[in-house]
This record gives sequence, structure tokens and C-alpha cells, in this order.
Amino acid sequence: MIVFVNGKYLKDNEANINVNDRGYLLADGVYEGFRVYNGKIFKLKEHKQRFQRSLNELKISHTLTDEIETIFEKLFEKNSYKNSDELFYYIQITRGVALRDHAFPKEKTEIGIYAFVSKKDLNEKAYNEGLKVCTAPDNRWARCDIKCISLTANCLAKQNAIDEGFDDALFVHDGVITEATASNVFFVKDNIIYTHAATNRILSGITRNFVIDLCNENGFKLKEFPLTIDKLKSIDEAFLTGTTLEVTPIVKINDISINNQKIGEITKKLQSLFKNYLQ
Ligand code: PDD
Repeated sequence: MIVFVNGKYLKDNEANINVNDRGYLLADGVYEGFRVYNGKIFKLKEHKQRFQRSLNELKISHTLTDEIETIFEKLFEKNSYKNSDELFYYIQITRGVALRDHAFPKEKTEIGIYAFVSKKDLNEKAYNEGLKVCTAPDNRWARCDIKCISLTANCLAKQNAIDEGFDDALFVHDGVITEATASNVFFVKDNIIYTHAATNRILSGITRNFVIDLCNENGFKLKEFPLTIDKLKSIDEAFLTGTTLEVTPIVKINDISINNQKIGEITKKLQSLFKNYLQ
């Protein structure tokens, strides 16, 4: 695979970074993940806005231009992808190279940029049959709204879930369900759709926000209000949203079967509204 590293397009096994890059040493960087349909980046403007916000929040002084589009187009071409390929486009920016110190470098550093485009088909089985998830303590930092490359707590929660026989984990903070390890979560109860508000406790997902728009445009009742863990037993439907998931149903949470492990009607409707938008 050809990747982009600090201005160069190279084979991934020939690309390298300086060991003193602060992303490598301190996870001092931010990233974005995009979905590409028919050769076009889905919700490019929204992703760019969020990426710029993440940079600003970490005080990495860089203003995004159209480099994101240019890098993507070159990677698409150099890897001979086709418009029919479903792709995932990843880009990260770190504060750059400096000897290890928690304080930011005094001298201005060149940011480090790494990007790749890989094939990523929707997980059809999960999309059609649903996921089984568990709950896990949300022991991440309190700035989950920043798309920071430090993802240890997310990785650990996901792996623990897999080791326990689940597909993923839903984080619980102060008795409230926040989001999943790499996606947002929605619940349906008595025809009202609930999702956690876009606070510092969750990443404000581009897919989440698009699904909220779909709900509002199509007359679904939606509340940005969190579900407490004790209400799990009474919900009718649940689903995850994310760049690589679109709207993927949840059929089991811990030992609780949701809607007899069948995909709920509201979830199905949102899946089809999403697909219609992509046509
Ligand atoms: N994850 N919440 C978390 C913690 C995430 O990492 C993600 C995305 C989302 C969904 O955001 P969006 O709809 O914008 O993809 C929510 C990406 C895909 C990842 O880490 O690979």
C-alpha cells in the first residue's frame, strides 16, 4: 500500500518517522477517519471542521487547507483504487519532532502528517443481524470530544469485550451510557430515540449528527438525553453509528436480549434512509 508521510508518497513498509515524533512518544496528536463512497469523501466539510477543532483544542498550530482532499486524491490514484471500492481514509497530525518533554517544544516544530486509504467494506453480517455488546467502565480521560490518537482505554475496553465473547463495549460513566469504543450509541424506547448529548464525554460523531438530522427530517422524536444503565432492560431497540458502521443494530447488551434479538423497525428505517442518501 502507498501511504503519505510528511510530504512523501511511499510504500508503507518503506515509510518511516522520526522516533522523537511526539505522536510516537506521547500520543500528542489528532486524527480523522473518513468513509469514501463512489470515490467521494462522505461529509468532508463536517470532518474537516471537527479535525480543525481537535487541532485547536490540543493547541497544535496548523490551519487545514485543501491538503486533505489533495492527499486523498493522490492516494486513491497511486493505490489504483476504483470508484466502486468502499474505502476508509485515515489522516493524523502530530505536534512534530522534539526531545521528549511534557511541555510543548519552545521552538516551532513541523507538524507530522501521516495518511492512508484502505479498503473497508461494511460488516454486512453485523449490519443485518446485529451486534452483541457488553458494558464497561468509562475510564477514558474527560476530553472524549477531541479525536486524539491516544486510544488505549478504547482498545482495552474493546479487547476485553472480545475476550468475553462480545463484539464491542458500551462505556458507562456515573451510571450513564456514553458511547461505544469507536462509535456512538442510540436507544429507542416507546418510539422515542435517545442518544447522549455532544458533551466532553463523547465524540460528536459525524454519522451520529447525520442520523440526528435524518430523525428530525423524517418526523422521528429524538432526545439528546443519556440512558442510565438501570433502564437497559426496558429499551425496545439499540444501534451504533460510526464512519465504518453507518447504522448497525445491537441485539444484545450483557445478558439482555433487545427486541428478541431482531432488528427493530426504527433501526431498519434509519438504515434505509441512510442508504437512500448515499444513492
Ligand atoms: N471512530 N465515538 C468514538 C469514540 C469514535 O472513535 C468514533 C469514530 C465515533 C463515531 O464518529 P464518526 O461517526 O464521526 O465516525 C464515536 C473512528 C471511525 C475510528 O477511531 O476509527
